[in-house]
Amino acid sequence: MRKKIIAGNWKMNMTPSKAVELVNTLKPLVVNEDVDVVFCVPAIDIIPAIEAAKGTNIQIGAENMYFKDSGAYTGEISPAMLADAGVKYVIIGHSERREYFAETDETVNLKILKAFEHGLTPIICCGESLKQREQGITLDWIRMQIKIAFQNVTAEQAASAVIAYEPIWAIGTGKVATTAQAEEVCAAIRACIAEIYDADTAETIRIQYGGSVSASSAPELFVQPNIDGGLVGGASLKPDFGKIVNYNK
Ligand code: PGA
Repeated sequence: MRKKIIAGNWKMNMTPSKAVELVNTLKPLVVNEDVDVVFCVPAIDIIPAIEAAKGTNIQIGAENMYFKDSGAYTGEISPAMLADAGVKYVIIGHSERREYFAETDETVNLKILKAFEHGLTPIICCGESLKQREQGITLDWIRMQIKIAFQNVTAEQAASAVIAYEPIWAIGTGKVATTAQAEEVCAAIRACIAEIYDADTAETIRIQYGGSVSASSAPELFVQPNIDGGLVGGASLKPDFGKIVNYNK
């Protein structure tokens, strides 16, 4: 049985002092032993958030990293820094990074390989635009993203990874994919992993849905056979995140 994983993606929100306040507000609300709970926070909030989350079930993740260990890359943050700070998860290839910061499937692949080298678990984002959905190429597009993302990744590493399926048209729009749409793509992603690796790897890897997840949509989404939790943006900054984490209570 795969354990559910529900991650907040704070994006570019919360100053360090606000981050501590938010962790303190949410920590009694996000207790659910059936779920791995992760808060992916801005780089500057990582250390105070880890401090504030000590002794709780909350794990702190990063929203991005570079694909080198160290060096002359002004402004970037390395996986060694994240690992040393106590980070376990890192979002890789969010559609906002692809759109505004020129990330490509190739850099996503390099980052995934580097994350594993440092013992970090990547939360690997994929998703189609509205135009691609209307063109009927959603599954082809997602399969291509997955195949490039997992190049040179071993089966053992892949089994430990998390994939977040996030249709771009559903992010921050309040327009959540239907349960059937989300399940269809998550099932196709699992089939693609089985094709690249084997049935065991596909059965083990965890696949999240993301895009306008709310307390009202979470219960139906997260019980689908191929949806193992969610990546939650806007609603992860509010007490409602507690309801999302406790979708099964
Ligand atoms: P949203 O963001 O929940 O605000 O739509 C999800 C995400 O971008 O990860």
